[in-house]
Amino acid sequence: MQLNIAVVPGDGIGPEVTNQAIAVLRAVAQKFGHTLKHTTKNIGGAALVASGDPLPPDTLDACLSADAVLLGAVGGPAFDSYPRLKRPEAGLLRLRQELGAYANLRPAVCYAALETSSPLRADVVHGTNIMIVRELLGGLYFGQPRSLDGEPGARVAINTMRYSESEVERIARVAFDLAGKRRKKILSVDKSNVLECSRLWREVVTGVAAEYPNISLAHQYIDSAAMLLVMKPTEFDVVLTENMFGDILSDQAGGVCGSLGLLASASIGGKVGLYEPVHGSAPDIAGKGIANPLGAILSIGMMLRHSFHLEHEAESIETAVGTVLSQGCRTKDLARSGESALSTSEMGARVVSVLNAH
Ligand code: IPM
Ligand code: MG
Repeated sequence: MQLNIAVVPGDGIGPEVTNQAIAVLRAVAQKFGHTLKHTTKNIGGAALVASGDPLPPDTLDACLSADAVLLGAVGGPAFDSYPRLKRPEAGLLRLRQELGAYANLRPAVCYAALETSSPLRADVVHGTNIMIVRELLGGLYFGQPRSLDGEPGARVAINTMRYSESEVERIARVAFDLAGKRRKKILSVDKSNVLECSRLWREVVTGVAAEYPNISLAHQYIDSAAMLLVMKPTEFDVVLTENMFGDILSDQAGGVCGSLGLLASASIGGKVGLYEPVHGSAPDIAGKGIANPLGAILSIGMMLRHSFHLEHEAESIETAVGTVLSQGCRTKDLARSGESALSTSEMGARVVSVLNAH
């Protein structure tokens, strides 16, 4: 198979982790007899600096004509005071929109070897395996009107949470279909005691559930779900939620599993899938070669599964990551005191060597 990938490394640790992810993809392609073609383009702050646009036309064209896109991370303190549309994040949000990527899948798995790396007790996190299904193109991120106006001292800001029935329905179907292949349990997270969007969300999700009699559906308010996620993470299977709640819960799930650096994601639903680690650009450690590349590497696994339907290849990456962790390989974010840490490229090389050895 020919794998045509667009790589948009972005800012901070983005280039470091995507380099390792591409090295792993190259190894998998070689091992299973696929041809890899990839082109690298600017996005986010890197693109702003180069061209004044966080998603330049040639980047968008390359992404739209690829089979799948790998993104590193966007953002950095240098851009904090830029107007909204000239921020690195605007490039990523526009890319998700242009790709029609409404479904963001964020698995949070606690690897056996890392049970003691979680700030929670090992017996609490043991066996945690969650799939967060986050709606990615609606809610507060995209709702109109939005503004920040007025004279200093009397300014007013507005954001709008907006959802249509069809937007809720399509993401609910993604969650129900996924749950059918897992433990058949969905927790739909909302704030329907306060928000109209959430009331609609709950009604539509309940309606879709009627078509999936073998899946059990429960509803939970976001505040209580956040608490449950640290109290009893193993009770979660599929979590279905709107854009902002999903953004928050997925970082929290990273903490539960030991490090946000481990979490991968797939942003799908449109013609071209976008694969991005859940972590940000981590400006504090950028360029030091110490970032954890596993989130980006596992995102390649999700790419192989969801864009190319190469399940064996995807599993080979997931197995290799489990193996290197059980061999004791740790990047700085995972190492406990007294444990030595691998660099970003050493960790990537370990995954490649496990892949080549099996
Ligand atoms: C994420 C990030 C993005 C988001 C930012 C960088 C726009 O936090 O992918 O979780 O909020 O979606
Ligand atoms: Mg986030």
